[in-house]
Formats: sequence, structure tokens, C-alpha cells
Amino acid sequence: MCEDVVVLGKDDVQDLIDLEAQCFEYHWTREQFLLGLSRKAFKVLGIRHEDVLAGYIAFSLIEDEMEILNLAVRPEFRRHGLAARLLADSFEVCGENNIKKSFLDVKVSNEAALSLYRKFGYKKIGVRKKYYPDTKEDALLFRYDFPNKD
Ligand SMILES: CC(C)(COP(=O)(O)OP(=O)(O)OC[C@H]1O[C@@H](n2cnc3c(N)ncnc32)[C@H](O)[C@@H]1OP(=O)(O)O)[C@@H](O)C(=O)NCCC(=O)NCCS
Repeated sequence: MCEDVVVLGKDDVQDLIDLEAQCFEYHWTREQFLLGLSRKAFKVLGIRHEDVLAGYIAFSLIEDEMEILNLAVRPEFRRHGLAARLLADSFEVCGENNIKKSFLDVKVSNEAALSLYRKFGYKKIGVRKKYYPDTKEDALLFRYDFPNKD
């Protein structure tokens, strides 16, 4: 249904903003995307269907750690394996960059994301109470250790 996973950049920021508006109440602004991309603070991978950006993942790589900053799929494209493809491709980038561990936080009520991350081997390592400003929900912290290549 969708095309290959590709690296997104400054030219894709409007599409990213449109996608985020469909998926999150609080979302990154144009400036946040542009600043992060220009400073190479994070990488963004996306999947398109024709002219529509169907899903994306944003993550940072610092030293040997990867942090998932955002992952979203447009409602009409969900349950087709796109998030799993995006996550798998981000793991490939991690493999190329000698990344050893990955972290993320997720709302305690986000069953879809929790199931996805658990499927990829993430384990819960902590809780941040009332972490999210919009719902005051707790954040669950998750960690994944990449298998040792040696
Ligand atoms: C979470 C999200 C990214 C999943 O995207 P998706 O493309 O539908 O996910 P996939 O089709 O790749 O599903 C992969 C796995 O995730 C889990 N999953 C996805 N949607 C699910 C749902 N609605 N309920 C339960 N598990 C779900 C399942 O384990 C699924 O594997 P399966 O299909 O073998 O059961 C999507 O629901 C979304 O964009 N939600 C809003 C934004 C968000 O919450 N992002 C996460 C921030 S941490």
C-alpha cells in the first residue's frame, strides 16, 4: 500500500505538521522541526502513500543511545504495519551508528503504542508521575538494549 521508508528533511516539514495535527493535541511547531533538523538534533523517517505522509518517526542519537521522540501514523493508515516498519528502519539506522540502547516515554493509557514497543522488546524501567501537560497522565519509561554484535 505505502512506499518505502525514507529520510525526511526541511522540505517535508509542512507534511509533518499536517500529520501531527491529525495525531496529537499538542504537537511540534514548524520552528521546532526546522531547528531540530538544521542542528541535526534528531533524525526523521517517514512513509508516504502517493502524496500523503502516512507516518513518521523522529529520534535522536546521542553517543550510544537512541531516544524515540515521536512516532505517529495517520488514523486512516493505522493497523497496516507502518509503525512497525518505521521502528524497524530506525533500528537499522541504530545498527549503522553503533547504538547500544534505546529509550522512550509513553502515556500509560496508550495501549497501541505500549503493545508496539513491547513487541519490539522494550521493557518498562520507570514511571514519571503526571508527566504530560495535556492530560496529566503518568509516563511510562521504556528501554531496549540492542543485542551485542561481538
Ligand atoms: C501507536 C501507532 C503509531 C501505531 O501505528 P500503526 O501503524 O497502526 O501500528 P502497526 O500497524 O505497525 O502495529 C504494530 C503493532 O502495534 C500494536 N498496535 C498498533 N495499534 C494497536 C491498537 N490499536 N491496539 C492494540 N495494539 C496495537 C500491535 O502490537 C501491532 O502488532 P499487530 O498488528 O501484530 O497486532 C498509532 O496508533 C498512532 O499514530 N497513534 C497516535 C500517536 C501515538 O500515540 N504515538 C505514539 C507516541 S509514544
